[in-house]
Amino acid sequence: MAKTLKIDQRLNSDFFPVGVATSSFQIEGGREGREASIWDTFCTKPGAVKDGSDGAIACDHISKWREDVDLVASLGFDAYRFSVSWPRVIKACGSVNQDGLAFYVALLNGLKERGLKAYVTLYHWDLPEYLEEQGGWLNRQTASEFAEYVDVVSKAFSGLVDCYATLNEPFCSAYLGYELGVHAPGKVGKQYGKKAAHNLLLAHGMAMQVLRRNAPDVTSGIVLNFTPYYAASLSENDQTAAKLAHDHHNDWYVRPVLAGCYPDILASLPEEERPEVHEGDLALISAPIDYLGVNYYTRSFVKECSQDYFDILPPAKGKPVSAMGWEIFPNALRDLLLQLHRDYDLPPVQITENGMACDDALINGEVDDPVRVQYLQDHMNAVAEAMEAGVNVTAYFVWSLLDNFEWAEGYLKRFGIVYVDYDTQQRVPKQSALALKQWLTRRKCV
Ligand code: FCB
Repeated sequence: MAKTLKIDQRLNSDFFPVGVATSSFQIEGGREGREASIWDTFCTKPGAVKDGSDGAIACDHISKWREDVDLVASLGFDAYRFSVSWPRVIKACGSVNQDGLAFYVALLNGLKERGLKAYVTLYHWDLPEYLEEQGGWLNRQTASEFAEYVDVVSKAFSGLVDCYATLNEPFCSAYLGYELGVHAPGKVGKQYGKKAAHNLLLAHGMAMQVLRRNAPDVTSGIVLNFTPYYAASLSENDQTAAKLAHDHHNDWYVRPVLAGCYPDILASLPEEERPEVHEGDLALISAPIDYLGVNYYTRSFVKECSQDYFDILPPAKGKPVSAMGWEIFPNALRDLLLQLHRDYDLPPVQITENGMACDDALINGEVDDPVRVQYLQDHMNAVAEAMEAGVNVTAYFVWSLLDNFEWAEGYLKRFGIVYVDYDTQQRVPKQSALALKQWLTRRKCV
């Protein structure tokens, strides 16, 4: 028997789309049908991915996509959020890979046939390797290349898309990929992160212009990730450290988009760490968006650290954590939404990712994941509380439909509400999927 979810009335209307999210590199496989991406290259570096795996096959979604979208529909979801693989659409020579494009057109038609709304992310970290060879996101030209690719897909997808996201989590692309080096392309250096971030944001701005031209009726915006930072103590130094962490990791991405400027810390950065901002860049980056996508998983505590200004602490012993070691703390999602609402003149907000990794096991054909069921219920209700307090939230997506390639963790972490047996590619809905199905089916009848 499926567990019964108790979800606040505010999310209980058919007008509030509830969906599931995935991304191209994490599920598609089908490596032979596209150019290499920076993640293919990164996966070959010894030690870069914990289990030494790669995305060559992943969930083989490229051949099983019909079954996968059937699953999305049969579980009762309203919407499916997925990303387009840039290296599947644009060849190294610059011409269009028609087969690659046709795959997404078929997928979009498949969603329409099943009555599912299509939420399309245009960049979820899989930069074509041929562009990385020209400097990747450290090269301003990559933003123009992105706009050209967006021009191609938004023309080909005409009439099939409900919502576009230009980028998913530029923080991860820039900071994890070009500063810490724990994600592709694995570059390390403080002088890189904010330069890459600026070119990513510029790519967002340029892509928005293209979308306004080619898809004027489609809801378009950007997806950012947020980790709310809490001071580890009441000391002034820790409070300052928490604010710094927020400015560097959260506000650095949202302020240019919503307010047209970088946080004040820009002025105190050493010259070599500053982005190269040209005249007109920030106006382009801050052109109006139709919605802000918010991805939320966890919060962190921060303490002062003289060398790096701030130290992000692991969760204290005894705190509930996910299999990623991330603290489970739903109230931070409510508070984050309220803070954004206070700090900015917010457009409508979509929760574009929320979910958790569990140590799931398939036993007698079933996967019991009660902690995930509770997590989803509590976080959806935290969203409802923010709505009650005046934040305009217009959609909610669970990460993820399927267990998949979790970046530097490889296949070791399972975020899906559907279990994937990687040997057989069999999909088994977990108890969380069945609980959601029961709720969503009942919701449709109200
Ligand atoms: C987010 C990513 C997504 C997935 C989840 C767990 O940062 O957007 O691809 O890896 O984390």
